[in-house]
Amino acid sequence: MKKNVLRLDKSEYERESLVSEVITGFEKPQKVLPCKLFYDKRGSALFDEICGLEEYYPTRTEVGIMKDNIDEICSYLGGSCLLVELGSGSSVKIRLLLENLRNLSGYVPIDISEEHLIESVKTLAADYPGLRIMPVYADYTQPLSLPRFDFPFSHTVFFYPGSTIGNFKPDSAARFLGRIAKHAGRGSGLLIGVDLVKDVKTLEDAYNDAKGVTAEFNLNILKRLNREIGTDFDLAKWRHKAFFNPRDSRIEMHLESVINQRVKVDSTSFRFRKDETILTEYSYKYRVEGFRELVSDHYSVERVWTDEDKKFSVQYLKAG
Ligand code: AVI
Repeated sequence: MKKNVLRLDKSEYERESLVSEVITGFEKPQKVLPCKLFYDKRGSALFDEICGLEEYYPTRTEVGIMKDNIDEICSYLGGSCLLVELGSGSSVKIRLLLENLRNLSGYVPIDISEEHLIESVKTLAADYPGLRIMPVYADYTQPLSLPRFDFPFSHTVFFYPGSTIGNFKPDSAARFLGRIAKHAGRGSGLLIGVDLVKDVKTLEDAYNDAKGVTAEFNLNILKRLNREIGTDFDLAKWRHKAFFNPRDSRIEMHLESVINQRVKVDSTSFRFRKDETILTEYSYKYRVEGFRELVSDHYSVERVWTDEDKKFSVQYLKAG
């Protein structure tokens, strides 16, 4: 190797890019951290716990909608489809589809966590021995290139549950879903979970649970940064804050500095005033009409299923 070429191994490269991402976020007037940082091993376990909390209505409501309407949902998806799941699910939601879809041609889970992907594929392969599973290890938010599949299928249906689309800003959400429509082509489908606007108390309780699991999930980002890039966050000096911002129709999650303090990121030191916050997540809540408009350049909304209280929706969109 040439003497003047600096070689970084993978973990050093990852550290460097995380450092620069954090510095870029802390140089903004509203300091930010990307919400993808929630999902290390501990964060993923905390998120699973959140999904089972009394206050966190989205998961059980979405599952309820799917169970109540599974026959109709499957008839919209149609026979002989290739089912592509964004994020790999070993959860009850994908199982409902796998068990009820007739003549499913294949199942393609895409996940950025290799470990999670392998685990969920192992479990599903054992439980559904006849199912053709082609796992793809990739960041699905980046332009997709799926392998060519050498078996017949009539059309592709993407499955994007959980209202994860709410964690994108609306313009990025529209771009991202547009890319998927282009990739899958005219006539392809998208079965998507979309959380809906509702009374502020229900919304805010879902992100401020009594047991403090969401607070721990939020603060876990700082622990992760301390461990992975050597920042010196003192967790006792930060608190979880989540509220509904009605103007933008979104829950905002922040970490609030309890005192005036400084935090070191690599060789840079950042000042945080008392009550200043780091924004860690947006979770947009839509009206059915608003979501229809958001995706209208690329999709027609064929069917919207909701629960009785209209808390959450599962929607079938057709690209074209
Ligand atoms: C993954 N995503 C849809 C969750 C949400 O509700 O926005 C993440 C979450 N954050 C706090 N609680 C759950």
